[in-house]
Amino acid sequence: MNFATSIGPAHLLESRQFNQASLKALFALAATYKSRLRHDAVGLQTTHAGRMVSLVFYEPSTRTRFSFSHAAKHLGMLVHETENAADFSSAAKGETIEDTVRVLMGYGSDVIVLRHGDKDGPARAAAVSQVPIVNAGAGSGEHPSQALLDLFTIEERMGKIDGLTVVIGGDLAHGRTARSLAFMLGLYRPAHIIFVAPTQARMGDDVKAVLTRSGIAWSETETLQDALPLADVVYWTRIQQERMDAATFEAIKDLYILGTEEVAMMPEHAILMHPLPRVGEIRQEVDRDPRAWYFEQAHNGVPVRMAALTLILNGMLFVS
Ligand code: NCD
Repeated sequence: MNFATSIGPAHLLESRQFNQASLKALFALAATYKSRLRHDAVGLQTTHAGRMVSLVFYEPSTRTRFSFSHAAKHLGMLVHETENAADFSSAAKGETIEDTVRVLMGYGSDVIVLRHGDKDGPARAAAVSQVPIVNAGAGSGEHPSQALLDLFTIEERMGKIDGLTVVIGGDLAHGRTARSLAFMLGLYRPAHIIFVAPTQARMGDDVKAVLTRSGIAWSETETLQDALPLADVVYWTRIQQERMDAATFEAIKDLYILGTEEVAMMPEHAILMHPLPRVGEIRQEVDRDPRAWYFEQAHNGVPVRMAALTLILNGMLFVS
């Protein structure tokens, strides 16, 4: 196992850089933070007092940016952020991500959390950075810190990941959270992953190839009836209007809408997750169903990102 200290900064760039042992350590720390946030939030403030994080977001975000910001502040860190770097930073004048990172490093950032429209944006930043870069969502590529909180949530609620049937549905061609989750599930032994998507938005072959190579059973379908009754976990996602042409969006936007009738197909013990934002694909009426788990999932973003920041700052984040 390589730790970041021996080979450079501990970037968090993709789901597959982890293994089960490193995820176990991260989830254990996240669970500790979750409990301490309830009982001893003030005591956490000295953890990384004076360390600095820059949050640079070139694409819209609510949960990822706020939860990283809250996570860093709970640990006593100083937080600098730009909420619309594409329009309000010098990127609007044509500055490259590489130059932005070089400058933020020089200002004293200990870690740079980056959301970018290009799927290789965070990797390009990491290539020139001497401080850790966190991929907080990269185009239609990956969103590994979301996968961390998703897996943490599944394990916390279901008590395990191995042996579960996980249904991943919605816009799987463009949804980076679905891709990162599938990659990270490939590090475990789920019983079965079922992808549910319209033909225009199927899961990428790169993800499927990795799962196949890892010996994980997966299948795909276009119908909810084929998938929901088998699920232990249903992970739904929105259709990403901004990443497709108008005609495709019109054709698929209302194909899957989960209301009480659809959720009734899920077993009693199953949970329904969603990275949020939802834009109509899960009706509000579902919120009252005890299987609706998306807000608990979102709340886990803070302790999980606290754990990730601590491992990164301590040079203990696993890098493959
Ligand atoms: C997602 C994202 O930005 O990829 N949101 C999130 O980080 N929780 C999902 C989305 O935009 O649909």
